Amino acid sequence: MKAEIIRKLKETDGYVSGQQLCETLGVSRTAVWKAIRRLRDEGYQIEAVRNRGYRLLRTADVLTETECRSDLAGRWLGNPFYFFDETDSTNTQAKLLAERGAPEGTLVLAETQTAGKGRRGRSWVSPPGDGLWFSFVLRPSIRPSVTPMLTLVAAMAVAAGIEDVTGLPARIKWPNDIVISGKKAVGILTELSAEALETNYVIVGIGINVNTTDFPEEIRKTATSLYLESGVYFNRSSIVAAVMKRMEPYYKTYLSTVSLAELRDEYMKRLVSLDRDVVVLEPQRERRGVCEGIDHNGCLLVRGEDGSVERVMSGEVSVRGIYGYV
Ligand code: BTN
Repeated sequence: MKAEIIRKLKETDGYVSGQQLCETLGVSRTAVWKAIRRLRDEGYQIEAVRNRGYRLLRTADVLTETECRSDLAGRWLGNPFYFFDETDSTNTQAKLLAERGAPEGTLVLAETQTAGKGRRGRSWVSPPGDGLWFSFVLRPSIRPSVTPMLTLVAAMAVAAGIEDVTGLPARIKWPNDIVISGKKAVGILTELSAEALETNYVIVGIGINVNTTDFPEEIRKTATSLYLESGVYFNRSSIVAAVMKRMEPYYKTYLSTVSLAELRDEYMKRLVSLDRDVVVLEPQRERRGVCEGIDHNGCLLVRGEDGSVERVMSGEVSVRGIYGYV
């Protein structure tokens, strides 16, 4: 009920009468009043004026389950929704839920992770208070071999969602880091469960540095946050909702051809290394070339010094700008 009240108050430019809330929610005035009191305890500033009703003055800037539920209402992606104050890793929790049959669209979000996972077996530091750590379950009927493309689709959704809310120019470092002013603001970890030719489910885990004010020394030169790039603190729940909203149509477009044919141009507009010199780092050797974009399968196209174009598959290698991280 709290989520519905918040949604109604947000939708309305002025006062919502107690009577209206009772009728919409089918509950008593006392029940509405109690819910308003609980919302105030959570940090919402709600004005109550006799004969006019309730008006939302300020949403809570803490990340609450109520706020997220309210912002995610009406979407298939983001429902059902699981909120943890603390968990090991939202990817791990989403995987457990998927194993027990959780439907496509299930979203798991945590205020803090004690064992956040990054790519290549690294850990992902996920303190409480200023970041967004969440994972969702997809169940596409596609071959496992084409699922790496979902990572690129998710990167597009995250970049667009961030831009919608913050206005910051979010670019993509192939395949799926989100970069603002040359520094990493988001990491995405996609995990797959599959049989030989069949995909059971895919977990897409996203970590966004939203209001982070400082980073550990080791990553200070390459990491950034939405706050550091804009000087503005953002409401985290609206960012998750914006990402989910963008992911729904991108995912549908991807599934319609099981390729990036229709998304490729848009992806390339955000591709930070387009037309730049890059180094392809393989375990045994390094090669230089110029990045010419991606193909329909999400492979990076790199023109080498001999003029031939190489397709680089995500997951196999790491690609860097010749002067550093991007
Ligand atoms: C990377 O190494 O760039 C990927 C980082 C992915 C971090 C996110 S935070 C939410 C989700 N849960 C995890 O344990 N990892 C991902």
